[in-house]
Amino acid sequence: MKLTHVQGTLPGPKGRVLLERWHRAEADVVGYQAPVVWDTARGCIVTDVDGNRYIDWTSGVLVTNVGHCHPHLVEAIKRAAERLLNNYECANVERILAAEALVEALPPHLNKCFFLSTGSEGIEAALRLMKRYTGKFEILAFEGGFHGRTFGAASAGGLPGPKRLYGPTVPGIIRAPYPNPYRDPLGLCQGAPRFDRYFQMLDNIVAANSTGSLGGVLVEPYQGAAGFIFPPPGWLTRLVEWAHKHEMLVTLDEVQSSYGRTGKMWAQQHENLDIDIMVIGKAIGCGAPVSAVAARDQIFSCLKKGEMSSTLGGNPIASAAVVAVLEIYQKEPLVENSAKIGAYMKKRLRAIAKECPYLGDVRGMGLVMGLEFVRDKKTKEPAPELIRPIIDNCANAGLLVGSVGLYGNVIRVAPPLVISKEEADESLSIMAGVLKGIRLP
Ligand SMILES: Cc1ncc(COP(=O)(O)O)c(C=O)c1O
Repeated sequence: MKLTHVQGTLPGPKGRVLLERWHRAEADVVGYQAPVVWDTARGCIVTDVDGNRYIDWTSGVLVTNVGHCHPHLVEAIKRAAERLLNNYECANVERILAAEALVEALPPHLNKCFFLSTGSEGIEAALRLMKRYTGKFEILAFEGGFHGRTFGAASAGGLPGPKRLYGPTVPGIIRAPYPNPYRDPLGLCQGAPRFDRYFQMLDNIVAANSTGSLGGVLVEPYQGAAGFIFPPPGWLTRLVEWAHKHEMLVTLDEVQSSYGRTGKMWAQQHENLDIDIMVIGKAIGCGAPVSAVAARDQIFSCLKKGEMSSTLGGNPIASAAVVAVLEIYQKEPLVENSAKIGAYMKKRLRAIAKECPYLGDVRGMGLVMGLEFVRDKKTKEPAPELIRPIIDNCANAGLLVGSVGLYGNVIRVAPPLVISKEEADESLSIMAGVLKGIRLP
């Protein structure tokens, strides 16, 4: 029996009315999504207000790794909500258990954490930590990087969306190219494991742009919003070595890459990176709003009491979610499934790409992949005009997908990590069918 079912053309009758009401009341300023009003979701299956059923390749936006509304998580949130909702900066049992559970799950050298509410807030905290610990104020970040929409995070980022037309950004950010194996006109991905050409260029960038106050590096293990760009193996290891040689701290932005997304619990484990600070968000609460910054104990000790705080950080509901999510990871083979089903889906997507003249690249690790669409596979000219029809046609056929990319031409493949082979097969068939019918306008 088919898992998905969509009646007629979207939006359905109830969905249409609700979307109109929504846009009348709330500013319509978010990115483009299929016209679907979500009602309920379990595991990988989403049901909309008209009773249509979809397989989800979005996980929200790489949030619901344990599957939508996992019963253990829902129960933990309910139990916490009945007892205590907030107690700013004070201890509560859930917060203490969450901190212990998170530190236990982190790579051993990151032995302290601090809870906040969003990924952007975690990035702001990491920027502060790097500046306070080193006493320096410049940060090296990357073109194409996305770290959030608060002002420090947006200033560090290297995508136009969060900062274009918003005036001057925070001073002290030095930006370098991020190596992109699919588009590498300067050969920056060559020369593993030393990547001499890349690091000579980086030395030149620092020499030309730094005032001598470079204290830290902020980097994503793969660039998510830029289009799921994975650097060549070994480049991150070399970057950490380079930064430490120059007495800088390294913050790894694992807001979206952690909790098994790449087939390892933490993306940094693919190369056992010796980073100093990590920012975690999204799947840490699998739907409960929580984020964290984690670092060596000694790094946090540069802050005086009262220097880091957040109204909702460490609240009992978010903290109960942190604990419940980690318990689910202990009981269920989510990380293994991510690696296994991810490899299977990538293989099948690469076969689909051979048949589709516009699917230029299929890349990724575990259950985070990007499908990059181009007008021509030789010239690689981006084809963002294909993305909206793909999103709409997929939804009409029962598959929810979203888009990213510096050029807006990449479809995200990021289902909850509980996706079964049956769900993978049905969703892959939907994508293959949609791509067969897609044409350049
Ligand atoms: C790598 C990365 N960092 C930071 C953020 C910002 O997180 P939030 O939207 O929770 O502020 C995101 C969000 O997509 C992200 O992907």
